Amino acid sequence: MPWRVGPAERKAGERSDPYRVWLSEVMLQQTTVAAVRDPFRRFTERWPDVAALAAAEDGEVMAEWAGLGYYARARNLLKCARAVAARGGRFPETRDALLLLPGIGPYTAAAIAAIAFDEPATVVDGNVERVVARVFAVETPLPAARPQLAALAAGLTPDARPGDFAQAMMDLGATICTPRNPACGLCPLRPACAAQAAGIAANLPLKAPKPEKPTRRGIAFVGLRTDGAVLLERRPDRGLLGGMLGWPGSDWAETEPVSRPPAPGSWQPIPGEVRHTFTHFHLRLSVMAARLPLDTTPGRGDFLPCAAFRPASLPTVMRKAHDLASAAFADD
Ligand code: ADE
Repeated sequence: MPWRVGPAERKAGERSDPYRVWLSEVMLQQTTVAAVRDPFRRFTERWPDVAALAAAEDGEVMAEWAGLGYYARARNLLKCARAVAARGGRFPETRDALLLLPGIGPYTAAAIAAIAFDEPATVVDGNVERVVARVFAVETPLPAARPQLAALAAGLTPDARPGDFAQAMMDLGATICTPRNPACGLCPLRPACAAQAAGIAANLPLKAPKPEKPTRRGIAFVGLRTDGAVLLERRPDRGLLGGMLGWPGSDWAETEPVSRPPAPGSWQPIPGEVRHTFTHFHLRLSVMAARLPLDTTPGRGDFLPCAAFRPASLPTVMRKAHDLASAAFADD
């Protein structure tokens, strides 16, 4: 993993760069190690240290973050970079001091303190919760079991190499002590695992049933001017996909959406729809598309020249709408 220092460097007394640890941990809260590799490389090549990131333009960082989701995190990432730059570019070195930075919660603070500064802070993510629930055969369902699991994890955390311990627990949870079909035969903790001894490892942790996600509907308007410019709108900073570029559209609600195109034109419904799942709801998005004349004055949004438009810098749901519309444009 590109944010880790190898065993040889560690022996030589080298520690992980707190900037890289912080950035990787914030990214890893959204998604898997495999999905973070490329964005992590792009970020660190473009902005090799916290001062460089702090000096970046907001829109550039949001565009690089596109596809990772949870865009409030990207805005907090910048806030945090600027706070660290303002204190001379050095991250605070304890969990408690790290917690005072914008966007750094208990998980990230503990991870940076343990991995970059060797503080025996306990790092608890979903993987660690699962490992601990199994080792101690905790049968209280999540989320009620969380404090108990955190206390048990704290009891295991060593004073020596707490960062390696934390990452070993996360790696164990990601590769061996997996949610379904754990590979208990390969597990170094097998002799210590109460759930394995009782034959219930694969059933733990128990989870309280989650409420069903509602389905919302909406309409997105993909407008393409004859010179290739695209009609996009920056979303308000607060709220879902805050601060990101997207297609103008209806509100997203459980009721039938109202169609109000952002510019005059012959808007055509595109066959099919975009489906996307957010934390709290499923979305089914209808797409309307139009080729707009050069003299169009939009009522909403602004034209972005073709040369400046990268579909990959849109949030995933908006990129899916683009893909659906452009497949239809390509057909005609
Ligand atoms: N998931 C979140 N942070 C991680 C890390 N440092 N190593 C492995 N998996 C992780």
